[in-house]
Amino acid sequence: MNILLLGSGGREHAFAWKITQSPLCQQLYIAPGNAGTRQHGNNVALSPNDFEAIQDFCKEKNIAMIVVGPEEPLVRGIYDFFEDSTIQVVGPSQMGAQLEGSKAFAKEFMAEMGIPTAAYQEFTVKNLEAGYDFIDAQKPPIVLKADGLAAGKGVLILEDKEQAKKELQLMLGGKFGVASTKVVIEEFLDGIEFSVFVLTDGKSYKTLPIAKDYKRIGEGDTGLNTGGMGAVSPVPFVDKVLMQKVEERVIKPTIEGLQKRNINYKGFVFIGLIRVKGEPYVIEYNCRMGDPETEVVLPRLQSDLVELFQALEDGNLDDFTIEIDQRAATTVMLVSGGYPQQYQKGKTMQGLDKTLHSLLFHAGTKILEDQSIVTNGGRVLAVTSYGSNFKDALKTSYQNAKFIEFEGKYYRKDIGFDL
Ligand code: AMP
Ligand code: GLY
Repeated sequence: MNILLLGSGGREHAFAWKITQSPLCQQLYIAPGNAGTRQHGNNVALSPNDFEAIQDFCKEKNIAMIVVGPEEPLVRGIYDFFEDSTIQVVGPSQMGAQLEGSKAFAKEFMAEMGIPTAAYQEFTVKNLEAGYDFIDAQKPPIVLKADGLAAGKGVLILEDKEQAKKELQLMLGGKFGVASTKVVIEEFLDGIEFSVFVLTDGKSYKTLPIAKDYKRIGEGDTGLNTGGMGAVSPVPFVDKVLMQKVEERVIKPTIEGLQKRNINYKGFVFIGLIRVKGEPYVIEYNCRMGDPETEVVLPRLQSDLVELFQALEDGNLDDFTIEIDQRAATTVMLVSGGYPQQYQKGKTMQGLDKTLHSLLFHAGTKILEDQSIVTNGGRVLAVTSYGSNFKDALKTSYQNAKFIEFEGKYYRKDIGFDL
């Protein structure tokens, strides 16, 4: 079949790499893609949010399956747009995507299903004063979350109550646009984070390799939040006992909750978790795969991904077993100097052909007419490697990270430091 993959990051390059390993995939198109996805199919200049244009393209190219990388098209309802057509969309319905699209929806869903998460309340301008009182009643740090999608920037963690009140007022006043017309304030959870990925048809599910990403720009997990600076899979501290708790207390009730609410969900659930005193709590849901977690999860998945996607539609996911590579995989993200604040694009990249024993997943890259590759985003390239354990894998990623050159290149040298 012909497949259309939406998105342009490292996650999508990893998807393109994996999808084209399937004998079921005839032709892959990536919209809009990057210099890396081009190695696996045709990049097409389409916006992932322009459903009409995507529909026309699908007719023209006889596309049978659309794989959605980022959250925005899902939250905008791409699944529902194609629901009556013969084209399969891998991803949840608009209602299902609310797990990521609205923090208030997700919290309420978890409360109903008894899924462990931080205690919370939600506020709008109408009960701002109550918000101040709630902050006064908390023990800092105070966690403020914009309800809607805010490009990963909508969570603020503040040590000072007065600062938190000021930020609450700013958020409700439109700091993150409509995304923060509602704000969730929640209890701060102190622990270590990890990510669980589930592929589901809304009834049965398969758990993919566990991963941990490193979100802060600075070493030792300091500085501003980024989209993700590196990732490791598996995660040594996530043992059988912890995973069993996650399965019983989080994954199963999540799938049951979808069924209970009659929510159509045929895609990935990304569950961001935190371990506090040995117990798992949900920090957030995403309705898509993580980036850069995908760059370590898919390399460890030996099963045919397209076959699994088809099973979502056919309703026989239960008949499949997930084969996992027992090796560890790690990725180190090379980013543009200045990211996640101001940075420059268009820097010529060199040394991509010098690396050995790593998979290079392009994130923000572009190919020019003269065939040179230049940077085209904050996160530029993920260097993924295998190893008998995460330390071995990281050694290879770091060796190869040195070979790739572009002006302003930065990467964290301490991925996995806390494991
Ligand atoms: P989110 O966008 O919900 O993933 O939040 C971004 C980051 O903020 C998370 O990855 C955590 O590191 C942190 N965070 C979110 N909620 C909490 C919480 N309740 N307690 C502690 N840290 C949190
Ligand atoms: N790496 C975190 C995310 O994809 O949301």
